[in-house]
Amino acid sequence: MDNKVIQTIKDRRSIRAYKKDQLVPQETIEILKECALYSPTAQNKQEWHFSFIENPTLILEMEEYIVSEILKNANDAIKERMASINNKVVYDAPLLVVISVDRETLGYYGKLDAGIAAQNLCLAAESLGLNSVMLGMVAPLFKGDKSDHWKTIVKMPETHDFAIAVAIGYGAMEGIKKELDYSKISVVK
Ligand SMILES: Cc1cc2nc3c(=O)[nH]c(=O)nc-3n(C[C@H](O)[C@H](O)[C@H](O)COP(=O)(O)O)c2cc1C
Repeated sequence: MDNKVIQTIKDRRSIRAYKKDQLVPQETIEILKECALYSPTAQNKQEWHFSFIENPTLILEMEEYIVSEILKNANDAIKERMASINNKVVYDAPLLVVISVDRETLGYYGKLDAGIAAQNLCLAAESLGLNSVMLGMVAPLFKGDKSDHWKTIVKMPETHDFAIAVAIGYGAMEGIKKELDYSKISVVK
């Protein structure tokens, strides 16, 4: 189909390996910021915040902490899952966007607002020749003893809590082919 938006939606896959040394150009990052801010929110409240972490060394430090937290209390299934992704969470992506939401809103439409913005970022990245993956597994940074430390590092507003993150970069693998399950759709005529 000759429709760029539809093709972009179909082409986007979660990518779990990135070219470490290929940074996202600054002008591309600026477009991604704009696309995040263009996202719709319930009642146009815009109670999200986007922390654009553009420092690969810091991203690695964050990842090390997350992995150590996950493995600390992990059962065998979690250890196995972590081993299957080489004990990586951000997969060497050079750009990490942490989306946080005002905690008063998080239980209502906040998570939806954050998810929509995450998808805007993923689709914008795809259309700019980049790859992405949404990351719920970044959550351990913002729970427990060191959460204030990491919130300060990523400049998350004090009123906000973590919702979802998006890793973006140039993929070093193909995505997993999607099988469409039409049983998830009911038709009412
Ligand atoms: C809310 C949410 C959280 C996710 N968290 C992770 C994550 O922490 N790590 C990861 O590798 N993938 C994560 N994913 C990606 C999903 O695993 C992926 O979307 C799913 O397997 C379908 O693959 P596709 O994105 O290529 O269509 C997350 C996706 C969503 C929507």
